Amino acid sequence: MAQITACIFDLDGVIVDTAVYHYRAWKRLANELGFDFTEEDNEKLKGISRVKSLELILGWGGIEKTETEREELASRKNTWYVEMIQSMRPDEILPGAKEFLQEMKAAGLKTALGSASKNSGLILERTGLLPLFDVLVDGNHVSASKPNPQVFLKGAEALGIEPANCVVFEDAVAGVEAAIAAGMKVVGIGSAEVLNRADLVVKGLFEIHVPQLNNL
Ligand code: BG6
Ligand code: MG
Repeated sequence: MAQITACIFDLDGVIVDTAVYHYRAWKRLANELGFDFTEEDNEKLKGISRVKSLELILGWGGIEKTETEREELASRKNTWYVEMIQSMRPDEILPGAKEFLQEMKAAGLKTALGSASKNSGLILERTGLLPLFDVLVDGNHVSASKPNPQVFLKGAEALGIEPANCVVFEDAVAGVEAAIAAGMKVVGIGSAEVLNRADLVVKGLFEIHVPQLNNL
């Protein structure tokens, strides 16, 4: 079996829990448009790009908008979201994430971010995690979103490492599919029932250590 020399991490739900901020911002937008948006609705947007999320939300509200209007709405939501993540702090890093990244560095393994978010740089900077990543690939660098494997393939390429030598960490079904399509091993973060195509599912990065990476 190929030796694992790099890990590629999704951001939201794996490294930090930003779902609550996405939820507040989307709910505010939906309410302004005259309908409600629940936490269950928010769950369905995990790993889904901003533009696609808005399309789904407008569909749930039974509202049609032109492309220009949709751009304005997505940008309004993002302004509120960015206002909230501006004040994120290192104590919002999910349990074990920083320790696992440090453990990887100490073992000489490479790290990349592979996220759909266009705000990943700001979040990593605010939480102090930026120096622990060798490469960042996010929604600003891809033309196709998960389950397309592009974000992870670009991460491996930028690291100079073959896909077969990479492990992806993901909390969204679309992300697990993207990792498999990229020819990478994948560790799911969350429920084994939902992420049933992953090679291993854990509750959080606090449950995983470097020696396990070659036994997936
Ligand atoms: C993903 C989140 O990581 O990023 C999604 O799980 C979000 O909920 C997507 O829509 C895009 O994020 P952003 O920050 O570019 O709006
Ligand atoms: Mg995620």
